[in-house]
Amino acid sequence: MKLIVYPDYDTMSLNAARLVGAQVRTKPKSILGLATGSTPKGLYRELIRLYNEEDLDFSEITAINLDEYLGLGPDHQGSYSFFMKEFLFDHINIKSENIHIPDGLTINADQEMENYESFCDSMPRDIQILGIGHNGHIAFCEPADEFAKHCHVAKLKDQTLDANSRFFTNKEEIPKQALSMGIKQILNARKIIMLINGEAKAEALKGMVLGGVKPQIPASILQLHPNCIVMADKAAAKLL
Ligand code: PGA
Repeated sequence: MKLIVYPDYDTMSLNAARLVGAQVRTKPKSILGLATGSTPKGLYRELIRLYNEEDLDFSEITAINLDEYLGLGPDHQGSYSFFMKEFLFDHINIKSENIHIPDGLTINADQEMENYESFCDSMPRDIQILGIGHNGHIAFCEPADEFAKHCHVAKLKDQTLDANSRFFTNKEEIPKQALSMGIKQILNARKIIMLINGEAKAEALKGMVLGGVKPQIPASILQLHPNCIVMADKAAAKLL
């Protein structure tokens, strides 16, 4: 695991975009694993700029997202499908058939996850973008006594519901379950870029890199990945 600390969020985002941009230019058919949340917004903004101003071409890219709320469709403003369109996909030339996000409106969530797992296993990502939850989760692999190895229906922890309530009009609106990639699929990526910013994530970053590998801090498993870059801003790294 390699840790790079940047002075601020924008510099971190810019450098992450440089890595993703270089990947896309080197291999136009790259498979990108994408994340939602506040953290990657700066990265996506910069990728859109690279598309508009520096001819970065996403036409052959495949995008595979980490997760989706169970019960929310692409028209719901709180869904990750909506988020991805709003903050990236609607602004670049990615083909809609190359976009993959779990179907939040599925009537058989277990089957949906089984299918997503086979799909992800057959499509190892060239780069996987990750954020981290305050409780150390990655995707919706929440802290537990065992790692959530497989694609699964996750029951969201109160801390996660609280943290994500800002994307909804009221807390009651947030689905309590989500469809999530498992640890095995995340580790399947050739390169992982974990983005962490802000003082509120300092404990999570410390737990991820300094403690042992344990399912109570799911992100700590990234210590075992052979090519994981953690990009943090100064505020997030203040406890290291
Ligand atoms: P955030 O979410 O980027 O909105 O902080 C990260 C996460 O929960 O994985």
